[in-house]
Amino acid sequence: MIHQTLKPFPKDFLWGASTSAYQVEGASLEDGKGPSFQDTKELPPGTADLTVSVDHYHRYKEDIALMAEMGFKAYRFSISWSRVLPEGIGKVNPKGIEFYNNLIDECLKYDIEPIITMFHFDMPAALEEKGSWSNAESSEWFKEFAQVLFENYGDRVKYWLTINEQNMMTLVGQLIGTLRVPEATTNLTKEIYQQNHHQLVAQAKAMQLCHEMLPQAKIGPAPNIALAYPNGNRPEDIIAEQNANAIRNWLYLDMAVYGRYNNLVWAYLEAKDATPTFAPGDAEVLKAAKPDFIAFNYYTSFTVEASDGSEQIDDKFADQQSAMSEPGYYRSVQNQNLKKTEFGWEIDPVGFRATMRALYDRYQLPLLVTENGIGAYDELTADGKVHDPYRIVYLREHIAQIQKAISDGVEMLGYNPWSAIDLISTHEGIKKRYGFIYVDRDEFDLKTLKRYRKDSFYWYKKVIATNGQDL
Ligand code: BG6
Repeated sequence: MIHQTLKPFPKDFLWGASTSAYQVEGASLEDGKGPSFQDTKELPPGTADLTVSVDHYHRYKEDIALMAEMGFKAYRFSISWSRVLPEGIGKVNPKGIEFYNNLIDECLKYDIEPIITMFHFDMPAALEEKGSWSNAESSEWFKEFAQVLFENYGDRVKYWLTINEQNMMTLVGQLIGTLRVPEATTNLTKEIYQQNHHQLVAQAKAMQLCHEMLPQAKIGPAPNIALAYPNGNRPEDIIAEQNANAIRNWLYLDMAVYGRYNNLVWAYLEAKDATPTFAPGDAEVLKAAKPDFIAFNYYTSFTVEASDGSEQIDDKFADQQSAMSEPGYYRSVQNQNLKKTEFGWEIDPVGFRATMRALYDRYQLPLLVTENGIGAYDELTADGKVHDPYRIVYLREHIAQIQKAISDGVEMLGYNPWSAIDLISTHEGIKKRYGFIYVDRDEFDLKTLKRYRKDSFYWYKKVIATNGQDL
């Protein structure tokens, strides 16, 4: 390989980290918040509930101070829709508005740029009862919510993300617990892709509204993007790889950026009698909206080979990063070149560079990393330390690849790994930790909820202070 001269990280690079409302806030029914779907759903056995989570709602000042101590330039968090609009539409909850005003102001006090995710897996329960994303009205509900956010926070918030991991909700919604379909559903694929269509329209409406109301702000989608590799060089495996990339990745971004369905995915949906129905005006709305950047979450790559359609998929043993196969289109296989985390996710820093290159090549828009990280069983020692060298190694190797991508000419806005602080995982409780800040609680015992700086906290502080030069 030719020696590459590395370019520095841009001076205004947004170093920070991420969380989502339901995974950190707690106070799930406090101060007028309506329940979200996360509060009413059946929990995976043996996992913590979200009544307290890590109590960020009450401890945000302490948490933001710790982020400031690390030198954060940005903090990506989501807004709980049902905290702001308890019924999802209609009456606004002043206390909910106030909480996010305070959170934003607290960030700005330390020159931390708030990056707001508008929707992160937590549909208001009241809208869930009206059919959630199956209802064609859902894009209007989302637009109303967006308007409330832009009116209240648009004077201070420059970066907006529409819907977190829409592709994971579509592909593995059952597994991460976000999928609800009407009882009468006969063609599940069609129903799921109809919901997906409504989300795409909702996103387009929010992007357009943002540009009308806040001309200085920037808005983009935030899918989970993992480049698919072919397992070997059989031509059939290349076809499988193309199918996988289209179905897992490009569908979502082709629509956001170009306002059209990816042709491979459309053909796949036609074969399953599952093409979504367009309401009058949808095509125009989708075409008119444009993102300013692409945010994406990256945890690992994804390897596939040709599928003869015979594989059995058992969702019980899958998770969002593995065992995703589409019989007849691609079969997901393990990549023997990669090591795995304790939770079985393959670790692929070079794939991160490949993903950034592919995204930029395809869309020519600046990229913002909104998640990346390692879930692990961390241990608090008797003297109040958390030694997490595995996290430092994981993040170091991934950050090094961002610099390579920048040197390849990819325009990068920032890096916001998962997660700023320990939080409740989508379906594996708090035993699977991601944070730089340890929270003293376990699955069912809330203990002291005290915060501790992990070793990775001090390491990341140094990375930020040197703008990525000292890894
Ligand atoms: C992403 C989500 O899927 O990955 C987060 O945006 C989630 O909400 C994160 O927590 C890690 O996944 P998990 O299943 O380990 O919590």
